[in-house]
Amino acid sequence: ALRGVVALDGPSGTGKTTVARKLAARLGAGYLDTGAMYRIVTLAVLRAGDDPADSDAVGHRAHEADFTIGTTPDHPELRLAGEDVAADIRGPEVTQAVSAVSAVPQVRELLVSRQRRIIADVLAETGGIVVEGRDIGTVVAPESPLKVYLTASADVRAARRSGQDSAAGRQSSVEAARESVQRRDHLDSTRATSPLRAAEDAVPVDTSELTIDQVIVALSELACRRG
Ligand code: C5P
Repeated sequence: ALRGVVALDGPSGTGKTTVARKLAARLGAGYLDTGAMYRIVTLAVLRAGDDPADSDAVGHRAHEADFTIGTTPDHPELRLAGEDVAADIRGPEVTQAVSAVSAVPQVRELLVSRQRRIIADVLAETGGIVVEGRDIGTVVAPESPLKVYLTASADVRAARRSGQDSAAGRQSSVEAARESVQRRDHLDSTRATSPLRAAEDAVPVDTSELTIDQVIVALSELACRRG
């Protein structure tokens, strides 16, 4: 079983979530989707009618929001005020607004400290956790023995994202997915507070030409050597 934290960062459409969950299951480890936490806060902002560009309102809403996130790799529970919001947080409204919300420093401060607490709890319980996001190797868990930075070509990422949308019953086209993925990457990598970037000691893995299973095998080997 895995000991410690595997930090899995990278832009959207690189297969991060699928890889992180399968890897955690295979290693008998916990799993934390930090993107889901930014999405839940964004849903709370939208439901309250706050303007996602109003950072004071957004920061305040984040502190008020009552949400929980599960840490099991198969069906991590996501609840906002007790309601199951696993589907709602993947919808187009949240996806459109999440980069603005996640750029607010008070939101990041709050969520990073919650993430560190969750990681410490899971480590105490099971000894290992796979954590996925944008700033895990750089900010949330810079001491991780294994940091991986997933990438994929723009074409592959657009095709994967649009495939996921249609599989979930949402309207989608590869062109729309390409624009949405590029817009989000641009916002995420140019924000002032903990922008998306690879840690210096992260292992880069280009998933463009790899199946999910090939990525899992490669990462399990790395985890066994370093974890
Ligand atoms: O991973 P996912 O695509 O669900 O993340 C949604 C958004 O949450 C990202 O586009 C980014 O704005 C934000 N995020 C972040 N830091 C993380 C994880 C996600 O800013 N660690």
